[in-house]
Amino acid sequence: MCGIIGILAKRPVVPLLMDALKRLEYRGYDSAGIATFEKGHLVRFRAEGKLVHLEEKLNNYSLDGKTGIGHTRWATHGAPIERNAHPHMSKQLAVVHNGIIENFAELRAELKKKGYVFNTDTDTEVVVHLVTDALVKGKTLIEAMQDSLPRLQGAFALALIFEGQEDLLIAARQGPPLVIGYGKGEMYIGSDAIALAPFTDRISYLEDGDWAVLTHKSATIYYSMGSKQVKREQTKSSRSAFLVSKGDHRYFMYKEILEQPEVVFHTLAHYLDFASGKVRLQKDSIDWSSVSCLVFACCGTAYYSTLVAKYWFENLAGLSVSNDVASEFRYRDPPLSVYQTLALFVSQSGETADTLACLRYCKRKGVQSGVVVNVSESTMAREANIVFPILAGPEIGVASTKAFTSQLAALASLALMAGKARGTISKKQERSFVMALAETPRYINQALKLEPSIEAVSRELIAAKSVLYLGRGTSYPIALEGALKLKELSYLHAEGYAAGELKHGPIALIDETMPVIVVAPYDRWFEKTVSNTQEVAARGGRIIFITDKKGAAAISVKTLATIVISEVPEIIAPIVYTICVQLIAYHTAVLLGTDVDQPRNLAKSVTVE
Ligand code: G6P
Repeated sequence: MCGIIGILAKRPVVPLLMDALKRLEYRGYDSAGIATFEKGHLVRFRAEGKLVHLEEKLNNYSLDGKTGIGHTRWATHGAPIERNAHPHMSKQLAVVHNGIIENFAELRAELKKKGYVFNTDTDTEVVVHLVTDALVKGKTLIEAMQDSLPRLQGAFALALIFEGQEDLLIAARQGPPLVIGYGKGEMYIGSDAIALAPFTDRISYLEDGDWAVLTHKSATIYYSMGSKQVKREQTKSSRSAFLVSKGDHRYFMYKEILEQPEVVFHTLAHYLDFASGKVRLQKDSIDWSSVSCLVFACCGTAYYSTLVAKYWFENLAGLSVSNDVASEFRYRDPPLSVYQTLALFVSQSGETADTLACLRYCKRKGVQSGVVVNVSESTMAREANIVFPILAGPEIGVASTKAFTSQLAALASLALMAGKARGTISKKQERSFVMALAETPRYINQALKLEPSIEAVSRELIAAKSVLYLGRGTSYPIALEGALKLKELSYLHAEGYAAGELKHGPIALIDETMPVIVVAPYDRWFEKTVSNTQEVAARGGRIIFITDKKGAAAISVKTLATIVISEVPEIIAPIVYTICVQLIAYHTAVLLGTDVDQPRNLAKSVTVE
């Protein structure tokens, strides 16, 4: 999703803006731009595509402006072409924007009537002309903002600089996050703390409705888009210590796949005490014994983690579980009982607009609401009643990998916690599950060692038109995740299906050209999955079977390839089998030469609906 940076520096600002934009690349974007001052006047540079194109343009200039704004754009209104790239400008100002101005059509019509000419297809351009209109009418900058901001509907984060005002930057937040950074004689504004990491670790988050006037030495914050000042707490960002580095790896995503043994262990160790074989009691946590119904609403990969969690919470804790994609849940007005219901929202970023809206909906209804979240300073983490950390560390690859397996690790631990509190698992079972989970890093490591045979499987996929993934039980969501990863990274069409549903539709697609990837540990669903695999074999489908030794010995159909994983306890199978589907997608993408870390059209943190 779009990334914003704004800097009031003591030194030439362009290299600082570019450095920050590189840190925002992970969010996903399709064009970029900056605006700064040259001899006291506003200038801007924009380019379609990756930041290197903007860099190439900037190489032709020596710019010494010390104040500037920068933007990576993820197109919503208007094609991803240079004309639509931010900043947008008038003679008076330049603006960058993340989000959607929902009433842009109405404002555009009004401003056109006044004679303003629109040069882009974006919703953002209305902000330019709205503020400019107030300024040409003689309003001060502050008055112009106070007049304009309340007129904007929707979700937006904005940063503006003004002609002839090199000691001023204005920012506003209504939805997508914005963080202020405090430096020594320098001030910063950014979409996240990662962007500001090399400059400062002293930050404060703007709340929804806040807008701020920054100079080189100060930040004055106003709330409710009005004229009353407010103080926002300054904190030390833990993410500032983080340097965006791939190490020796070609891609962040690959590095993040390899990090999983360590990261998942870290997550598990937060929730489980391996020495005693018990789940750790969480301070100020949930009284699971008073909960009977669990409601999940999330997006993308996080949604799939909750589909796995459904099996765990039902089986281990006897809870009734409902799963929704957040974009549906938020508009359904679902009836929710305030008593005995826990709403849990799983999110890597903690900023996904639809998931955040669901959290707010449940809180408004008085339903106890928790988040399972990776970014500890995110909006969801700050707004939820209870926060369960994922602790995966910053994830830069747009396609989620280690955050997903860490979400699974956290959710498995919470299911055990719930089962223990509700008396649905015995002490002996608690211990045996905790000790099984303790083995996860070792089994992930073993799965990672299968990379050469997995790469060979990817070679079989590159010519495919479409790929089908099948699984039953907790392997069904892993089939969905496998298909999602393949689509995201390689742009091949892929579908995940519950193996039992094969005969209700997708079987029509199967012929000798169709690869079918079956996720099938030797578990209680195995025999049924094999029967469905037979149905694929009978129609000539090219079967890639992911199983363990027992499964490999028991399968009676001819496969194109069989990937054999160590036998793992049932509770950790979804985590371990995920490694294989991640590597399949990764290697297919590498072979096809797609952009692994920043697949086209995708965004890391989706702050619009
Ligand atoms: C985007 C990302 C996905 C992610 C989804 C939900 O689509 O590309 O990787 O799963 O958003 O994001 P969240 O931050 O809420 O987990």
